[in-house]
Amino acid sequence: MANFPIEPFRIKVVEPIKKTTREEREQIIKDAKYNIFNIDSEKVYVDLLTDSGTGAMSDNQWAGMMLGDEAYANCRNWKNFERVLKDITGLKHIIPTHQGRAAETILFGSVVKEGMIVPNNNHFDTTFANIMECGGDPQNFVDEPGKDPEIIHPFKGNINIEKLDKFLAEKAHLVPLIMLTVTNNSGGGQPVSMENIRKVRELANKYNKPFFFDACRFAENAYFIKIREEGYENKSVKEIAQEMFSYVDGTTMSAKKDGMANMGGFVAVNDDQLSDKLKEKLILKEGFITYGGLAGRDLEALARGFEEVLQEDYLEYRIGQVRFLGELLDEYGIPYLKPTGGHAVYLDAKKFMDHIPQKYFPAQSLVVELYKHGGIRTVEIGSFMFAVPNKETGEIKFPDLELVRLALPRRVYTNSHIRYVAEVIKEIFGYRQQCKGMKIVAKGDTSLRHFVAELDYVE
Ligand code: F0G
Repeated sequence: MANFPIEPFRIKVVEPIKKTTREEREQIIKDAKYNIFNIDSEKVYVDLLTDSGTGAMSDNQWAGMMLGDEAYANCRNWKNFERVLKDITGLKHIIPTHQGRAAETILFGSVVKEGMIVPNNNHFDTTFANIMECGGDPQNFVDEPGKDPEIIHPFKGNINIEKLDKFLAEKAHLVPLIMLTVTNNSGGGQPVSMENIRKVRELANKYNKPFFFDACRFAENAYFIKIREEGYENKSVKEIAQEMFSYVDGTTMSAKKDGMANMGGFVAVNDDQLSDKLKEKLILKEGFITYGGLAGRDLEALARGFEEVLQEDYLEYRIGQVRFLGELLDEYGIPYLKPTGGHAVYLDAKKFMDHIPQKYFPAQSLVVELYKHGGIRTVEIGSFMFAVPNKETGEIKFPDLELVRLALPRRVYTNSHIRYVAEVIKEIFGYRQQCKGMKIVAKGDTSLRHFVAELDYVE
């Protein structure tokens, strides 16, 4: 057997990408004010900014798009979407939305009130912001291994059950629901074990609280359970996903990830009254309850995508490709968050750029260098994103980790692209001492500043 992940597909349609020269890229990133979000995608050679909505659809999905029934109510594609999701999740009410954060707005807008607290392993930034928007307080309870980039542990996405229990014993009256993000994106795309999910269910019962998933990457999580958790090796990934969902009362999902399509999402619940409330909000914000901001053809692509994502040869290749990039980095001695997660490799920029203090954004300096040297677009998850001065005191709290995320779009890049990325990183590692720190020169006061702020090098 080959020791690299073999693609379980062949390529029928290609999209040309163009290389630029280092000279051109130096000008492009300078004109973009050293903010990667300002670069035209046509000027990017390998785009690892996100795995969200950037995947390639199959011939089966494209064929389904032609069968779009664009009726306003109860189109046939909605029926397919609902049937497939009921089968996987077992949840009673499926409510479509145009993407994940719309599902969050509708859910949190219905259940989170001023002063309430929502615990999670790690909130993704949109769940965090949506809870804050409702006057709530999003809190993280990821277990200790999930905080250490070096520790090898099979389920670094697990929530700390003891801490959660203690917290609920004191504050349950303030908690509208308990959430668990599978896989844990903000913590490195790390999975949560079935045992951990079961224990959260027990706590939810003990304190009589609803339990929800943020299920963007549920299939990747299920596959990790299959290969890492005792007792699941002979179960199908679909059975494992079904068991995962059997423990929750509801879920939100951005289907731009494991829905294998470019747009879509949903919220699902068992509770009839909550469902009525959500549907009322849906009609106000997104659209009628059988399309929720999506075209019939999108619903069909998603219905087919949810079936394809559970195919085990696909998941073996998918998780294998991410691991493959990690193994190449190991060969070159590059520091990254271990073990590799489901959808991305996270470079440890604190170690990689150990000559740049956190206040000069070592991870952003690496993001810029990856673009300059190889035309590779990635995203900073470190001080540039999080070390925002407190509005009242001006105090800056630096994050524990300085990461650069290399998110792999689904079925898009070949293993040659992956090798190319690893080699670019290796070369930068060789001359990293020459890379300078960065400072914000404009638009630093905006909320979510990493999308818009302008930077320059410190001399
Ligand atoms: N929850 C998680 C865990 C996510 O990773 C994302 C999106 C969302 C919710 C929101 O979904 O984008 O459809 O509104 N993550 C993308 C990323 C943007 O790059 O990690 P959305």
